[in-house]
Amino acid sequence: MTDLQKAESYIESHLSGNRISHVYSVCDTATKMCRLLGKTEYCKAAYTAALLHDITKEFSNERHLEIIEKNSIQLTEDDFRSPEILHSFTGAAFAKELFPELINDEIYGAIFNHTTGKKDMTFLEKVIFLSDYIEPKRKYDASHELYDYFMNNIGEKNILEKACLICLTNTVEYLEKNGSHVNSRTIFAKEFLEERLG
Ligand SMILES: [Fe+2]
Ligand SMILES: [Fe+2]
Repeated sequence: MTDLQKAESYIESHLSGNRISHVYSVCDTATKMCRLLGKTEYCKAAYTAALLHDITKEFSNERHLEIIEKNSIQLTEDDFRSPEILHSFTGAAFAKELFPELINDEIYGAIFNHTTGKKDMTFLEKVIFLSDYIEPKRKYDASHELYDYFMNNIGEKNILEKACLICLTNTVEYLEKNGSHVNSRTIFAKEFLEERLG
């Protein structure tokens, strides 16, 4: 069994059914995105990051805190205000602990930043961030609309950044509408792209 097959088998035996289909749908979307953007050299990294991005999503809050402490993950008070984002940070560390040979810095970053986004994301970070939101198994109209927008405008300049900005704007609006805290990483990501895209 290759390391990647071991990771697939781990995901298939530890995550719930719905989560597994979401994970593989992110794998499909992320690799398709790399191919369509002419960056086939990123397909394997995109697949690996997508496969492992939600590895700790079903962990308890205590388990997240243990991983954060054990790995000395530097988080701020702001990060702890949104418990649902912790799985990104712990997922990166946990995936690296379990599959060190699969997780390089780039893949670590893509998992770490997949929920909040961050200022000046790398290509892989943008691919995973966007794929997680638009994969076709998502049940939100906004996700389907953004998937169609992305696929229909694939040849347009900065399409990946434009789609990420829409995703970030939707996320901020959704959180504000629900009275939820908006993480500063998300605000920085959005402001950075607004400035970049003018
Ligand atoms: Fe996630
Ligand atoms: Fe996800």
